[in-house]
Amino acid sequence: MMCLTGWIIYNGHLTGNKFLDFAQWLKRAANKQGIETHIYQNNELFTYLGGQQLRLLGETALPDFVIFTDKDIYLAKQLELLGVRVFNRAKAIEISDDKIATYQVLAHQQLPIPKTIVAPKIFPGSPVKPFENLSDIINQLGLPMIIKEAYGSFGEQVYLVHNEQEIQNKIKDIAGRPFIFQEFIAASCGTDMRLHVVGDKVVAAMTRHATNDFRANITSGGTMEAYQPANLEKKLAVAAAKAIGADFAGVDLLFEPDKTPIICEINSNAHIRNMYDCTNINVADFIIQHIREQFR
Ligand SMILES: Nc1ncnc2c1ncn2[C@@H]1O[C@H](COP(=O)(O)OP(=O)(O)O)[C@@H](O)[C@H]1O
Ligand SMILES: [Mg+2]
Repeated sequence: MMCLTGWIIYNGHLTGNKFLDFAQWLKRAANKQGIETHIYQNNELFTYLGGQQLRLLGETALPDFVIFTDKDIYLAKQLELLGVRVFNRAKAIEISDDKIATYQVLAHQQLPIPKTIVAPKIFPGSPVKPFENLSDIINQLGLPMIIKEAYGSFGEQVYLVHNEQEIQNKIKDIAGRPFIFQEFIAASCGTDMRLHVVGDKVVAAMTRHATNDFRANITSGGTMEAYQPANLEKKLAVAAAKAIGADFAGVDLLFEPDKTPIICEINSNAHIRNMYDCTNINVADFIIQHIREQFR
């Protein structure tokens, strides 16, 4: 058997157990398959540049691979420049982290997404003028519509707005951060599907349903149910992960009234405990298996 060593990196500044839990989950899965891993926080590893050098401060022995559960893209990139295979790749994490970049890649590959208009950049601190041509945007997308920040998670930076005034107010609130206007997929209000892709397969899936919110992932009172995705849904999720170059990802799908699936987002760092609780499938086992296959 091959003797691989790996690191698992998570963010040391985030509070709560979730992130360490994810790392430990991966470590146990690696252990089971005979792979030794070490868990690091990103703030234990300093990216050193200069003096004609590029290295990690204090670390000499690099691992064969890193599972990067963080979004510290500079650190992921540094590891890649040092020749380490990082899962997911820095580029995939970077695209996934930025919803605008994600939609741009998906649209370029002609994969189905909600109609989206990217808000022109406003520098942080610039006075925000009332948005001109709002009626053009409303004509394209209809009302209500979604306003969504490029960077966000857990549904917290996704807003449903019903009229011009609400739109102008929301723009004032979030100006300075990149965002989009997006068609509201009403048929899927409060419901989405989460398909977990590893390599070129969907290994687990569930539907999520919120009873009191348009966002399926707002947890108060929401439910999750194991789901057997249709072939088209699986194909779409795999194509979405592939489009951004992710080895594994949680892909969220919405659906039209006739159930046609549409890609909502791609999470390169999707947590797996909920999926396990819901489906009894341990995605970490598949992730480790996939990594081993890459070194074969
Ligand atoms: N265009 C949309 N139409 C309808 N519902 C949406 C739309 N975009 C997002 N949602 C809902 O909001 C939730 C969160 O949006 P998402 O883009 O996945 O952001 P996050 O990264 O915060 O999860 C989705 O799971 C979905 O239920
Ligand atoms: Mg989501």
